[in-house]
Amino acid sequence: MNSTQPFTVAIDGPAAAGKGTIGRAVAERFGLAHLDTGLLYRAVGAEVLGGADPVEAARNLEARALENPTLRTAAVAQEASKVAVIPEVRAALLDFQRAFARRAGGAVLDGRDICTVICPQAEVKMFVTATPEVRAQRRYDELIARGQDTTYAAVLADVVERDRRDSERSAAPLKPAQGADVLDTSQLGIDAAVAAAIALVEEARV
Ligand code: C5P
Repeated sequence: MNSTQPFTVAIDGPAAAGKGTIGRAVAERFGLAHLDTGLLYRAVGAEVLGGADPVEAARNLEARALENPTLRTAAVAQEASKVAVIPEVRAALLDFQRAFARRAGGAVLDGRDICTVICPQAEVKMFVTATPEVRAQRRYDELIARGQDTTYAAVLADVVERDRRDSERSAAPLKPAQGADVLDTSQLGIDAAVAAAIALVEEARV
């Protein structure tokens, strides 16, 4: 891999499948920039919960908004998946993601439509998944570790509801892209999942 050439690792998958952890680890291992694209939709969702218009919020989104610590709550996640259905919201966020994907030096992006819409020409395309129960347990553990007050049942309901909305929408629905490698992490510890993802990137670099 020539370090000034674009090199994109595109990672899609349902809620709490481990995309973020894998994305960060791959970025660190290969010295690539990383973008968690869910944060863009969460930032728009948070502004809508505060009374903003979703399309205006998406068009005027600033990088600073991605650092808001409340973006990780279940309420914001639900609102994010509602604004993500709106084609004008997705269109407003497209150029930023495409430019990030093809930046010099390479990038890792994770989300729902990275392989299918944002960067179908990515050098590496992965669909990271796991059973809803495994994903809900991981997200529950994460939220409890962050001090949030929730239950496993509430987290499972959130994950299932968002998966349904993300898969059934007509604009950029969640689905494995043609040619994407499917990485099912249900039975894998995080280290094994990261190792599998790193192996896929290694294969594509030569
Ligand atoms: O990945 P995360 O759970 O933070 O994403 C929050 C929501 O943002 C998802 O449920 C989905 O509706 C939306 N999203 C999307 N396309 C992306 C990333 C996230 O529609 N590329």
